[in-house]
Amino acid sequence: MSTSYAVQIRKALDKHQKWRGEECLNLIASENLTSHTVRQLLSGDMGHRYRADDRFYKGTRFMDELEALGEKIACEVLGADWATLRPLSGHVADMILVSTLTKPGGSILTVNPVDGGYPGLSDQAGYPTFVNVRNLYFPFDSERMNIDVEKARGLIEDEKPSLVVFGQSFFLFPHPVKDLADSCKDAGSRVAFDGSHVLGLVAGGEFQKPLEEGAELMLGSTHKSLFGPQGGIIVGKSGVESEVKGRQFPGLVDNAHWNRVAALTWALDEARRVGGKYAVQVIANSKALAKALHEGGVPVKCADYGFTESHQVFLDMSDQKEIERFAQNLEDANIIVDHGIRIGTCEATRRGMKAKDMERIAELIVSVYKGEDTAKVRRDATRLRRQFNQILYT
Ligand SMILES: Cc1ncc(COP(=O)(O)O)c(C=O)c1O
Repeated sequence: MSTSYAVQIRKALDKHQKWRGEECLNLIASENLTSHTVRQLLSGDMGHRYRADDRFYKGTRFMDELEALGEKIACEVLGADWATLRPLSGHVADMILVSTLTKPGGSILTVNPVDGGYPGLSDQAGYPTFVNVRNLYFPFDSERMNIDVEKARGLIEDEKPSLVVFGQSFFLFPHPVKDLADSCKDAGSRVAFDGSHVLGLVAGGEFQKPLEEGAELMLGSTHKSLFGPQGGIIVGKSGVESEVKGRQFPGLVDNAHWNRVAALTWALDEARRVGGKYAVQVIANSKALAKALHEGGVPVKCADYGFTESHQVFLDMSDQKEIERFAQNLEDANIIVDHGIRIGTCEATRRGMKAKDMERIAELIVSVYKGEDTAKVRRDATRLRRQFNQILYT
């Protein structure tokens, strides 16, 4: 007799929960851990409800209250004049941005994916190609992993892009928003900051302040360095709010998934209360991890520039086969990274790990790098993970 779907579903979920939830050192830079309250709110009644700007649905008065609160807290935490928590993901927030601040036939300047830019905003099947917007890419200094300011200034003057988007997926150091804001203004370019990766650090006051430096909009995912539910957000300076909100509903977001908005509102308040301490520890942890890996003989990017100022650490490897083998060996040892190889410290920080614990993680990674038996490393990695069952900064 075949096993019922219910049993199969349960088994897959239980196995995942035990492995990724209880045994692995999760070092994916795009991921984080939500608090127990955020998880509880995700399963609340608002997840069953509809609410729309045109008041088509009745029964929404507490959802109205919640949205207003969420927007207020987001403004406080991110230094903005207005906010919307409705974008269903960071990518949807980017779609809203491009749809609002460019027209067909216009152009967008971003970091190229080959330099760690976000593919969803590129001409490699990214959103701009869908709306007939031409891609331009920032001149990039790959030694420093940052935009080349002088060359970028020249490009902005020559090309006058409709929209300039700072921020990237492989994001180690603050971007020169301030240095290029005047050139963008002179060229008539609108300026935005995609903070998908670094939003939790910006919220904690520990990265850069894009809205004070010349960006009129900041957007991002709410679940990478920010410890909210998976989703998106846009905040901005006064002036552009009605353009964005007018584009957003109903063309790009209809139902906003109000349980997610509730959970995000709570997470933003967590960031308001303890986001500063969290961000300081995340960055201290990535610096400690990078240094220990480097000293252990693993090639780490930007050693001459202090490795990182964010939640990310990059391994300096280029051979794709070697990268794949190493990432797989790490997975076999219950150490989960991506194929960047880009390592993130947010989740470990939320579990309460500090610099000395980063040194222990580095030791495990170094031993896999040097060819140690992955089953042996897995035992040590699982033991280390089990010492940190708490969730802090909540
Ligand atoms: C810079 C950047 N923008 C946008 C996104 C899309 O975010 P989401 O996965 O929330 O759609 C990503 C995702 O990795 C990203 O790195």
